[in-house]
Amino acid sequence: MGRPRQWLRAVYRTRSPLITQIADGEVPPDGPTGCADFTGSISCPAVVVNMLHHLDPQPGERILEIGTGTGYNTPLLAERVGAVNVTSIEIDETLAERAATAPHAPGPAPHLVVGEGEEGYPPGAWYDRMISTAAVRQVPQVWIDQVRPGGVILTPLDSPFQCDGLALLVADGYGGANGAFVGAVDFMTTRGQREPRSYAELGWPTWAEHRVTVEEGRQRVRAES
Ligand SMILES: C[S@@+](CC[C@H](N)C(=O)[O-])C[C@H]1O[C@@H](n2cnc3c(N)ncnc32)[C@H](O)[C@@H]1O
Repeated sequence: MGRPRQWLRAVYRTRSPLITQIADGEVPPDGPTGCADFTGSISCPAVVVNMLHHLDPQPGERILEIGTGTGYNTPLLAERVGAVNVTSIEIDETLAERAATAPHAPGPAPHLVVGEGEEGYPPGAWYDRMISTAAVRQVPQVWIDQVRPGGVILTPLDSPFQCDGLALLVADGYGGANGAFVGAVDFMTTRGQREPRSYAELGWPTWAEHRVTVEEGRQRVRAES
C-alpha cells in the first residue's frame, strides 16, 4: 500500500466516520452499495474522544463495551483502566474476528466476546461503566442491572430530534437509572432494535411522534415544565 501519509490523513479525519461493513456483510467491501444499510463503522475520532470524555473511566474500573466493531475504541479503554478490566462484545462474528487481530499494547488483551450485546455480558457484572457504540431505541433493563449502583451507562438513544441523543445514565441500584442527554450523535442501531417503534410506545411525550429539531424539542419541554 503506497502513500502511507495520505492513508493516515484519510483515516484519521476528525469528523469522518469510516464504514467497515454494509448490509451485515452481504455486500462486499468494494460494493455496490446501492441503498443497502451501513451496518459496521468506526466512529469519527471526534465522537470517540467525546464519548470517552463523557464515560470518564477511571483506572481499575470494570468496563463493558457493546459493539467492538473494528476494535479501535477497546484498546483506548484498556489503556485507561487496564486490559483485564475491559470486556467488549460484538454481535457480528466476522467483525469480531477482525477486531481480535487489532493491535493492542504488550501484555494482557481486553476480553473480546462474540454475542448479543443487548443482553450485556452477565459473567463480568457488575460493571462500573458501560458504553454502547450502537444506538438503542430503549435501554435494555439488563444493562441497568449489570451496572453497580452509581455506575454509568453511556449510549446513543434514538430520539425524535432527528439525531440520536447521547444518554449518560447513572444506575440507582433499584433497577432504575437517571441521567441526561450530553450530546447529539448519529449511530447505527443494535441489530435487535433496528425496527422503528412509535415514540409514544417508547415513553416519549405524544408531540414527539412527529420528529422535531432539537431546538423545537427544547421549546416543547420548556413549555410543559
Ligand atoms: C459504530 S460500530 C462500533 C464501532 C467500534 N466501537 C469501533 O471502535 O470500531 C457499531 C457496532 O455495533 C455492533 N452491534 C450491533 N448490534 C449489536 C449487538 N446487539 N450486540 C453487539 N454488537 C452489536 C455492530 O456489528 C457494529 O460493529
